[in-house]
Amino acid sequence: MTSTAASPRPALLAARPGPWWRDAVTYQVYIRSFADGDGDGMGDIAGIRSRLGYLAELGVDAVWINPWYPSPQADAGYDVADYRDIEPAFGTLADAEALIEQAHGLGLRVLLDIVPNHTSDEHPWFVEALASGPGSPARRRYLFRPGKGPDGALPPNDWKAVFGGPAWRRVTEPDGRPGEWYLHLFDPKQPDLNWDDPTVRTEFLDILRFWFDRGADGFRIDVAHGLVKDPAMPDLGRHDPRGLVEPQLLGAATLSDHPHWDRPGVHEIYRTWRKLAEGYDPPKVFVAEAWVSSPARLAAYLRPGELNTAFDFDFVIAPWNAESLRRTATSSLLAHDSVGAPVMWVLSNHDITRHVTRLGRPDARVAKDPLRSDHHGEADPVLGRRRARAALLLELALPGGVYLYQGEELGLEEVEDLPEEVLQDPTWARSHHTERGRDGCRVPLPWTASGPSLGFGAAPGWLPQPASWGGPGGLSVEAQAEDPGSMLSFYRTALRLRRELAAQGALGAGGAASLTWLDLGEDVVAFRREPGFVCVLNAGEGAAPLPAGRQLLASGPMEEGQLPPDTSVWLSTTWSAPSAPAAS
Ligand code: GLC
Repeated sequence: MTSTAASPRPALLAARPGPWWRDAVTYQVYIRSFADGDGDGMGDIAGIRSRLGYLAELGVDAVWINPWYPSPQADAGYDVADYRDIEPAFGTLADAEALIEQAHGLGLRVLLDIVPNHTSDEHPWFVEALASGPGSPARRRYLFRPGKGPDGALPPNDWKAVFGGPAWRRVTEPDGRPGEWYLHLFDPKQPDLNWDDPTVRTEFLDILRFWFDRGADGFRIDVAHGLVKDPAMPDLGRHDPRGLVEPQLLGAATLSDHPHWDRPGVHEIYRTWRKLAEGYDPPKVFVAEAWVSSPARLAAYLRPGELNTAFDFDFVIAPWNAESLRRTATSSLLAHDSVGAPVMWVLSNHDITRHVTRLGRPDARVAKDPLRSDHHGEADPVLGRRRARAALLLELALPGGVYLYQGEELGLEEVEDLPEEVLQDPTWARSHHTERGRDGCRVPLPWTASGPSLGFGAAPGWLPQPASWGGPGGLSVEAQAEDPGSMLSFYRTALRLRRELAAQGALGAGGAASLTWLDLGEDVVAFRREPGFVCVLNAGEGAAPLPAGRQLLASGPMEEGQLPPDTSVWLSTTWSAPSAPAAS
């Protein structure tokens, strides 16, 4: 087991110019599946606290913890019943405060997850809205509408829910008659809030304040692009072959004036949030989850006075070839530069097919909608892990910050053969058992080579782990920790080197301007960052020539002067030794 010693990171962070979040590496803790402290099969705060030393040693700067609030767990905690407390299965408010303090003691910042698009249907506001009847102030906090057709028996429009089926559900009024319909862009247990109601706006500012005052360093904003709807609620009117209408989170991709995704009105909300965050010393920070149609539209969320950062999902949807990787990096960097914001690179998260599996598929692509796993072609995990190493070096070498998803440092693959009876993602039921959903990337982490849940906890976890993750040659932390050739050792080395390079000034100031693309052939992505660092990635078939420079790290075995396919290397050019004094 790894030690819990504090890492030297705080001092290095302090040495770096600018706010900490501009080039931070943040580790996503999916609380249900990270570590189970009380042996009930479900991860919890005690589990996270017992493993914070592992995260400090891994070398990340911050953690983002998925929603931990009281919740019926209809969508794994994204259905919040009380924004100011902790789900009892995860711990208590005192545990949460202790976690934040402990993390800070280790030099780790803590980002929480705010869910402003919808509440749980068990939130007191929604319970009150149902009891209060049409036209009441309680109903105005949500999006209730009369139905269409005789007796209002048809939904108000043709919008579909992301998880499948119509986005509307009819309620029974307090007098027992069938009544209005409410909008739920996700599960029926997640009614959408009405952000035109001032009480909603005030409430969320207050919730942010509640957690900021308890030490949270910032928030990840769930469905940040969804809060504002066209009040006219027009039909989308565009049916796909399965009879669904724009069900994807990526629905915005094809429509510039979408009635519920990425509407201009969301920006005003985030200006008020940023103002609140800037009132703290040091200021708090936001990262938006916004699935929008272009880098320019993403950058609009990051204009001065708006949000600090947003996940950049473009590598998630980019095919694995040099041209697309180069184009993706360039367009993201340029769009972010235009608003003075750093890019936040992402390869995986709790909604997306794990990238070892994605990159191991013959065509190395994902489904159009990352919420739905893509079964086109068998994945080759050996190829996937080789590419995953190269992809890590690429994103860590680019200017900006990086979000890592728990388990990617172990090279975990998507678990695609979970038995149907254990699936919990609402997508499975809502799609009438045609879409398995996202559970395959949410399987509990393997910490030890043996045990009822491979060290996740004292009991079997809420989802079963593949047998191949256990044993001395498996993927557990225990099996990898002392193996210099393991994925875990590779992540630790890459993160340590990146910190050292940044602290020594080898990576320059950051931003697209600090980067020069090098032409080493069409299959090769190569760039230099002044004053002395080069990253070379070969996403092509054959071996590519290596430029001169001292090798700092390679994602696979190198031949003399050559870079094999699907590998990457970091080279030092003018920069010399990690122990040299910081460049002026
Ligand atoms: C976001 C979350 C996802 C959740 C959805 C609804 O996309 O990442 O897990 O299901 O929002 O809250």
